[in-house]
Amino acid sequence: MPYHRGMDIKIAPSLLAADFSRLADQIDSLGDEADLLHLDVMDGHFVPNISFGMPVISSIRGVTDLRFDCHIMTTNPTVYMEALVEAGADLVTVHLEALPDPSAAFIEADKLDLDFGVVISPHTPFEAMEPWVESSRMIVIMSVHPGFGGQSFIPGVLPKVEQARKWVDSHGLATDVQIDGGITTETAPQAIAAGANVLVAGSAVFGKDDPAAAIRSLRAATGESK
Ligand code: DX5
Ligand code: ZN
Repeated sequence: MPYHRGMDIKIAPSLLAADFSRLADQIDSLGDEADLLHLDVMDGHFVPNISFGMPVISSIRGVTDLRFDCHIMTTNPTVYMEALVEAGADLVTVHLEALPDPSAAFIEADKLDLDFGVVISPHTPFEAMEPWVESSRMIVIMSVHPGFGGQSFIPGVLPKVEQARKWVDSHGLATDVQIDGGITTETAPQAIAAGANVLVAGSAVFGKDDPAAAIRSLRAATGESK
């Protein structure tokens, strides 16, 4: 039986694919369809690209009630957590490649009353994540190399999604399993069947003329409805 039966599927549009000259309109174009807003923070050091940070996050905080899912692609992510919360982050995820021992970040998240979790890039095995799954609100399996939107889905990560889902379920956890990168109406069903319940989609949402309709198509492709 596919893992998604009875699971709450969430779609998290990635703002990285939006038109930055009109962010409020772009967020508005999601209608009521999005479950979270995925915000990719990149520092040009951990990843070879620079996106946006706290000033942009706090500016858009005023235009939406969507929860902000902040994917932090920086070195030293722990030092930014308080500023991210002040800017309006609801959930922060950090890369184990940037922070192999995230225990201090978990303590900091606890102090800040912040939902927190860990991310792995395509080359990192699921085992690296195991010690942190229980304390994570969400774990993220990257299905592209971090740094850029619009890349092709790497199907080789699907076994890690299966491992993640099995770990979460067999330990009786409520941890969300997010997949990030290259999600389309073709790849979304594969991700869901493997056990992901949160789908990040940038180009497949903001790259379309009607982002709200694009989310409905993604959801329909997974066999779920809102
Ligand atoms: C890549 C980012 C992804 C990206 C997804 O580093 O973490 O969230 O924006 O974009 P698409 O859906 O276009 O692959
Ligand atoms: Zn991301």
